[in-house]
Amino acid sequence: MSEQLIIFDTTLRDGEQSPGASMTRDEKLRIARQLERLKVDVIEAGFAASSNGDFESVKTIADHIKDSTICSLARANERDIARSAEALKGANRARIHTFIATSPLHMEKKLGMTPEQVLEQAKRSVRFARNLVGDIEFSAEDGYRSELGFLARVVEAVIKEGATTINIPDTVGYAIPELYGNFIKTLREMVPNSDQAIWSVHCHNDLGMAVANSLAGVKIGGARQVECTINGLGERAGNCSLEEVVMAVKTRRDYFGLDVNIDTSQIVPASRMVSQTTGFVVQPNKAVVGANAFAHASGIHQDGVLKARDTYEIMRAEDVGWSANKIVLGKLSGRNAFKQRLKELGIEMESEGEVNTAFAKFKELADRKSEIFDEDILALVSDESVTAAKEQYGLVSLAQHSETGERPRAKVVFTVDGKEFTGEADGNGPVDASLKAIEQHVNSGAELLLYSVNAITTGSTESQGEVTVRLQHSGRVVNGVGADPDIVVASAKAYLSALNKLHSKVERVAAQL
Ligand code: KIV
Ligand code: ZN
Repeated sequence: MSEQLIIFDTTLRDGEQSPGASMTRDEKLRIARQLERLKVDVIEAGFAASSNGDFESVKTIADHIKDSTICSLARANERDIARSAEALKGANRARIHTFIATSPLHMEKKLGMTPEQVLEQAKRSVRFARNLVGDIEFSAEDGYRSELGFLARVVEAVIKEGATTINIPDTVGYAIPELYGNFIKTLREMVPNSDQAIWSVHCHNDLGMAVANSLAGVKIGGARQVECTINGLGERAGNCSLEEVVMAVKTRRDYFGLDVNIDTSQIVPASRMVSQTTGFVVQPNKAVVGANAFAHASGIHQDGVLKARDTYEIMRAEDVGWSANKIVLGKLSGRNAFKQRLKELGIEMESEGEVNTAFAKFKELADRKSEIFDEDILALVSDESVTAAKEQYGLVSLAQHSETGERPRAKVVFTVDGKEFTGEADGNGPVDASLKAIEQHVNSGAELLLYSVNAITTGSTESQGEVTVRLQHSGRVVNGVGADPDIVVASAKAYLSALNKLHSKVERVAAQL
């Protein structure tokens, strides 16, 4: 029998630490349901002690998700660990993930602790956690820049205290594949009880090598758990990408000789959901989930693929869920068909009222766009006017005029706490004019950090435009997303969505270390 590689997804914890990627509890639950459909072994649902909002998110996910192990991060102290255990009470399988930094730099400058103090705190914490939950992961933060002899002492000690998984992160993305693989290998050889725990890798992507480093940790180092995120989401340059690591292990099973539980047909839907929820757009040439990942432009390639697919394709698009991109509904589809498709996509509406609003939006869209794809439905239900937990800002209507040689002008009607306002402005282009028209009344003082527009589905100018707007104000960064066949309207929706997040009272503070 071949060995299993455990897939530990940390999109909802480490991924959420990206500026602007913070999510509400309901958004996290929706993604957790998709991760369960994807069959990830472990879902790191958050960092329960970091805020009440994150505690509630971990608790909700632990109460609802039954097929994956649910994990909460905790610093190596009793308060954090007890809070994690409390949030995880409803889980079928719970894991506490406790960590402390072990590199000389982090111990001295960040923690102000001696190595002996760190060792004692690590032991105490794992002992305490082990009395609350049976499945304990210990991480040596900045492990790769730690001194091997000291790290081996810490790891041996925490395994004796009951740690069942040992994770050696490359916290700052400094590693090189061969060196990281050998680091894990040597460490395992130095720790006398290393066979009593599963070894795990957790790599950041600062030098673009997170996936390669993780795979080297598996192949050379013997790790049997990989920590990763959907789309490689994460702080700075991100984390190891789940879809890349999983498809590498599956496609090159001849080399790795390992199995993964993942239902790969759920990869693209998961990627779409995370990107739509966080506003982090997937680059078109991104491996596995980028829009061009399976597109062949050159004549020689197209000819080859038509003659024999494996001339230029090492994976099948449908195996990673691209076939989910199919026409599902149209203008004549009824409410029941719509409801059924929502169910198949794993979307649970809070009330019949929400289904009615979503259905009305769907009909509006179907009037303007003949083919409705799964991606359109996902965008539609993410629209705040459908899910709206009483959002502050909402779009009512938009009119704009642009003509060659003339300065574009826009008139936007929008609501603020239910009251209607009209703004009119001109600008460099229709989008600029529309956002200025909104700002005329709102005066948010926010700085626009990013504006991007993408087609939701490929292959037709009929596609909806999906706009992402990133705003920064008073140290907070948020992403707003809006979709519409008219990209000026999508831009106004995205802008209002970002303003809603900036001013939201719903807790969406990302768990931060
Ligand atoms: O990158 C890191 O070191 C982490 C740990 C907390 C596991 O995210
Ligand atoms: Zn990390």
